[in-house]
Amino acid sequence: MKPKKIIIANWKMHPDTGSEAKKLSQDISKVMKSVSGVEIIIAPSFVHIPLLSFSSKKIFLGAQDVCSEEKGSYTGEISVTQLKKMSVSHVIVGHSEKRLLGDTDELINRKVKTVLKAKLTPILCIGEKTRDTQGIYLAFLQNQLKSAFTGVSRADVIRSIIAYEPVWAIGKSAEDAMKPQDIHEIVLFIQKVISEIYGRDVSKKITLLYGGAVEAQNAEIIVREGNVDGLLVGHASLSIKTLHPIISALDSIK
Ligand code: PGA
Repeated sequence: MKPKKIIIANWKMHPDTGSEAKKLSQDISKVMKSVSGVEIIIAPSFVHIPLLSFSSKKIFLGAQDVCSEEKGSYTGEISVTQLKKMSVSHVIVGHSEKRLLGDTDELINRKVKTVLKAKLTPILCIGEKTRDTQGIYLAFLQNQLKSAFTGVSRADVIRSIIAYEPVWAIGKSAEDAMKPQDIHEIVLFIQKVISEIYGRDVSKKITLLYGGAVEAQNAEIIVREGNVDGLLVGHASLSIKTLHPIISALDSIK
């Protein structure tokens, strides 16, 4: 059977109330009833996680971050165990907005390992801040990938999700998103880096998403021509009006 396309709905610090979050999740559940080729991971803010539940096998609950340590006295942090008890299956790690607030490569590596040890799926975000003509951004991406997976086994890399999100595209509109051909180049580059560390077979099995300014108009072409397994969607996942056409676009890909 053809693998389903993946959509991560990253709600960031939205919406303001639990009832809005519940309503949006119910609207998504309705849309997903008639969809067969897509699975969606909804990553609400921590406080809304306990309010959401899904009966569909195509909808998963995600978290936007987690504590790097399994347990202990860490004020303000949320543990993998707490997330698991709330039926969370996926955890975003290393989002550029968290990196900006201080998450280092070393901390991200610890988070990835903690998530994997708990048998949850990490969604590792990597992405360059700017582009240059000398290829410095490629070395930057390679370094982010290598450090995030330091000490991670081949099997665990295969069950992780990698989301490539160029920081310069995040939060922009579809016109400013990366072009599908350029995304495809990065896909090949990431596969090469993984292949160098873990071998070609592993590089062929990794799950790779694109994120940054994904909207209804560019969703399908990015997945088809960019050759990614799905999309990480921020602002366009905050309303069913903008998310529905993205789900339908991916569902229509043969
Ligand atoms: P965007 O955000 O879709 O609003 O660009 C993507 C992200 O930051 O995950």
